[in-house]
Amino acid sequence: MSSDTPAVQLQEVVKTYSRGEAPVAVLKGVSLVIQPGELVAVVGPSGSGKSTLLNIIGTLDEASEGTVTVDGESVGGMDEVALAAFRNQRIGFVFQSHHLLPQCTVLENVLLPTLASRDPRVQAAARERAPELLKRVGLDHRMGHRPGQLSGGECQRVAVVRALINRPKLLLADEPTGALDQQSAQALIDLLLELNRDEKVTLVVVTHAMGLADRMTRRFELKDGRLPVEER
Ligand SMILES: Nc1ncnc2c1ncn2[C@@H]1O[C@H](COP(=O)(O)OP(=O)(O)OP(=O)(O)O)[C@@H](O)[C@H]1O
Ligand SMILES: [Mg+2]
Repeated sequence: MSSDTPAVQLQEVVKTYSRGEAPVAVLKGVSLVIQPGELVAVVGPSGSGKSTLLNIIGTLDEASEGTVTVDGESVGGMDEVALAAFRNQRIGFVFQSHHLLPQCTVLENVLLPTLASRDPRVQAAARERAPELLKRVGLDHRMGHRPGQLSGGECQRVAVVRALINRPKLLLADEPTGALDQQSAQALIDLLLELNRDEKVTLVVVTHAMGLADRMTRRFELKDGRLPVEER
């Protein structure tokens, strides 16, 4: 893809959930363009559709109407298998709850997204990259520990490393600092910004934390299913 291919492009995205008898329109025509390397915050009240929007960008959920393009590829027409591979290679997710597997060590959790690749070179590269990334978040000495032996903030940092192991171009984070104290939150924000700078990762974060939103370069506010104004 050429460098001017948008990282994300949404055109008139509508998302309606059929709940009981009355379908609920969560997104009512959302259009946005995010360029590679941008730092974007999505804010808005609870229930406004932020997670829905993030999941649609991340191809975990499908738009009811409209088009979604990620890294120049229209994801609407892809079948499940192609979509899973696309997601695995290009997109990293950090969820509010870290979703680490309790029975696996830190290192095994970080390497999980690479298991789908049958290419031994990919796996070898990941085995080299994992300790480097863990070192960057100050957890290289905890590689053999299990999530139950770590604090919430440490687990969240492991989740960030796992999201980055396949070198995604796009990192989507849903309330990544939601469960963290101020100091851990600050460290996580610093890490995300560093990765953006060093690896040119495009970052889209959903957050209620203004400390995080304020450090992004663009901010979108979801209101009534739309993105009415770009705040800055
Ligand atoms: N699978 C689903 N089926 C039906 N309704 C859903 C589904 N997922 C989300 N919704 C509804 O869509 C609306 C938006 O939900 P969403 O999770 O995107 O909000 P949010 O902005 O992320 O909220 P929060 O800040 O509380 O996380 C909510 O009213 C929610 O109940
Ligand atoms: Mg949410």
